[in-house]
Amino acid sequence: MKVGVIVAAAGSGTRMGAEGNKIFLNLDGKPIIMHSLELFDAIEEVAEIVVVTRKVDLQNIGALMKNISTPYQIVVGGKDRQESVYRGLKSLSGDFDWVLIHDAARPYLTGCVVRRGLVAVREYLAVGVGVPVKDTIKQVQGSFVVNTLPREELWAVQTPQIFAYNLILKAHEEAIKVGFTATDDCALVENLGQSVHMIEGDYGNLKITTPEDLPKQREFLLGFGYDVHRFTHDRPLILGGLEIPHEKGLLGHSDADVVTHAVMDAILGAMGKGDIGEHFPDTDPKYEGVSSIGLLKQVLDVLWQERLEINNVDITIIAQKPKLSPYKQSMEETLANIMQVSQARVNVKASTCEGLGFVGREEGIVVQAVVSLCSR
Ligand code: CTP
Ligand code: MG
Repeated sequence: MKVGVIVAAAGSGTRMGAEGNKIFLNLDGKPIIMHSLELFDAIEEVAEIVVVTRKVDLQNIGALMKNISTPYQIVVGGKDRQESVYRGLKSLSGDFDWVLIHDAARPYLTGCVVRRGLVAVREYLAVGVGVPVKDTIKQVQGSFVVNTLPREELWAVQTPQIFAYNLILKAHEEAIKVGFTATDDCALVENLGQSVHMIEGDYGNLKITTPEDLPKQREFLLGFGYDVHRFTHDRPLILGGLEIPHEKGLLGHSDADVVTHAVMDAILGAMGKGDIGEHFPDTDPKYEGVSSIGLLKQVLDVLWQERLEINNVDITIIAQKPKLSPYKQSMEETLANIMQVSQARVNVKASTCEGLGFVGREEGIVVQAVVSLCSR
């Protein structure tokens, strides 16, 4: 089975509002149009690919086609999609029995849909790919409903559409003759009074039309925090917002919650906003004895204002004493609640220092924290 492929790419992508044609926008590491071109390139039955493009895009398309090994042509399109496809059909070089027409603006096409279409066309001669609509469709004039269409019969039509070459050529020529225009090629065959067979495609085979159709670029940020506080005898030991029974507490301007401090520093670091010393200076009397959890809430407010959220937090507490394993889970719970994430996204580890150094001599506690953030 020898198939010619027409890729309609001669639009200007007005509704996308991008600088150039939307088909060149990057999607998962390559231009939108490359997704379907590479797919067709890998299908054995495809003997020629005709890319229909605007004059201004000829050079860009030419550069991309260097990566395609199937014989190809690049031709200039027309004033609307119908005319572009017609020009593509007329310029196919071989004597093709079958032609598959696809919009470059549909990058999510799968080989499975193409294969099913190529099987169906041999039986039905004109095949459309589509999906039953999930929404109820109403016909509206001005702002008033004039008709509610029976949903059971409605399909949203996509590309590819696959035809016997002579049939689609005849359909296009008849349309030109009678001045019939349509937004897809099946409609031209319908206009001949011939039947069109529909196969169920894939809801994911979206047409990229407006910016909402592009996947959201989620930003991912990483921060590291480190803090040390010295032990003293006359203060409670506060770690991760919990008071932990011990004969010593930590010295500091605030409540000296070294865990929460490391977490705040990691968050500020990921946001590129300095450190806690800059935000809550220990020379400022208003922070004296203050709860570090309260300060963490202020940092989180900044985070949420920036439309970011905590992805996960990993904390290591290095303390010779007290034994912290009984408190790790409660610390995770406390911090997860405040940060509005599930407890599974907050991990607290505790380690001793094998008696070495200032931690080993029980002079203080060290905490390290890694935080990842993502955009909402
Ligand atoms: N197309 C074409 N020739 C035209 C107009 C459109 O080949 N004269 C192609 C587009 O490149 C696209 C497909 O037809 O792959 C579907 O059209 P559409 O999604 O409307 O794309 P654009 O016309 O580029 O976008 P817009 O209507 O927003 O300008
Ligand atoms: Mg258009």
